[in-house]
Amino acid sequence: MNELSQFGQHLAQGSGIGTLMDDLGEALASGHPEMCMLGGGQPAHIPEVDALWRRTLTALIAEEGKLEAILGNYDPPQGNLAFREALADCLHRELGWELTADHIAITNGGQTAFFFLLNALAGPRPDGASKKILLPLVPEYIGYASQGVSSNLFTACPPLLKETAPHRFKYQIDFEKLTITEEIAAICLSRPTNPTGNVVSDQELAQLRALANEHHIPLIIDNAYGAPFPHILFRDISPVFGEDLILTLSLSKLGLPGTRTGIVIASPEIAKAVSSMTSIIGLSNGNLGQALTTPLLKDGSLLRLSKEIIQPYYLKKSKQAQKWLLEAIPDHIPFSVHESEGALFLWIWFKDLPVKSQELYERLKVRHVLIIPGHHFFFGIDDPEWKHQFECIRLTYSMPEETVRRGIQILAEEIIKLYSLTLTETP
Ligand SMILES: Cc1ncc(COP(=O)(O)O)c(C=O)c1O
Repeated sequence: MNELSQFGQHLAQGSGIGTLMDDLGEALASGHPEMCMLGGGQPAHIPEVDALWRRTLTALIAEEGKLEAILGNYDPPQGNLAFREALADCLHRELGWELTADHIAITNGGQTAFFFLLNALAGPRPDGASKKILLPLVPEYIGYASQGVSSNLFTACPPLLKETAPHRFKYQIDFEKLTITEEIAAICLSRPTNPTGNVVSDQELAQLRALANEHHIPLIIDNAYGAPFPHILFRDISPVFGEDLILTLSLSKLGLPGTRTGIVIASPEIAKAVSSMTSIIGLSNGNLGQALTTPLLKDGSLLRLSKEIIQPYYLKKSKQAQKWLLEAIPDHIPFSVHESEGALFLWIWFKDLPVKSQELYERLKVRHVLIIPGHHFFFGIDDPEWKHQFECIRLTYSMPEETVRRGIQILAEEIIKLYSLTLTETP
């Protein structure tokens, strides 16, 4: 290929996470029967939920002309009007939010919503200045990291680490260090956070919102796992909306990643801007996820499904995986699991890990266990000396029980081997 543009250089020549995803994909494609895939963000196949999609699709197909409309029509770039109205009504009814269909724009997946939003807000400006997105807490979702079309878009604030119980900890926003300069275009966080399962408290969120308002910049809240759906949330929070916020939702973790449906809820001005970007880049969005969920928004069952089926399912799996970890790794090893407050992951910190987490990843891959080494999630900070970022891993617990249990057992064996070189057990 000839020399590429800046856009080409940033997006067409691979990325750290791209290589890792290829690596995971190839390992899976090898079809090894013992493979424990604990690396991706694949939602579980929950039998009741899969059955619901089958029933709803069957009912749509039975409706005269419905399937032809879904498959055969381009929707407007802002998204299907019936879906956007049903969603706005549902959010008004259930949460009291004051919004209309004009506050909502659909994208081809939440990932695309972030590509649009992050690049529209940050990066070079017509006046020659260049702006950044502030991540108030890292580690943060790796999927944002390489999305800038022209430059690195992020600056981040290292967190406070709080020990919450033996072998447990939690990251908190370090408000004393969080400075918002002229360079900051927006604040962004995922809640629950991928990769840690952290859920920033209502009070911390209110503090971030006040800071954003004071500096006249938006606060972007990525609810891919959060409220009001799919509600993979294990602590009580009050979901908020206002035109000063940009909320993103997705149908993926409800069990519909194949429909590629992302949702942006913001001021009508921002929703229109997202719609404009969709029309230029993709013309329109996939219709199927919107068609499948419109009736479930109208009768409120999507929110009930989230709270009554999806949330308890993942909570049980999270607790099980934590129990297996605590049983498998001996107490004298200095490991700590992040409080699991939502999402599909356990985030494990091995203090003074004798090798970098990348090497732990390689050792586990040889044994057919795939996790993600944690340093990929610490983007936006420039401190190669901060060893914590090389001591953590992300492990997905949404896979079948046997897979998660075996993966954890093998992880424990490798960890015991590594620490046995440096630690002696205290009697
Ligand atoms: C925090 C977070 N945001 C956004 C996304 C994007 O998801 P999708 O494009 O499937 O909606 C993901 C996917 O795993 C995620 O973990």
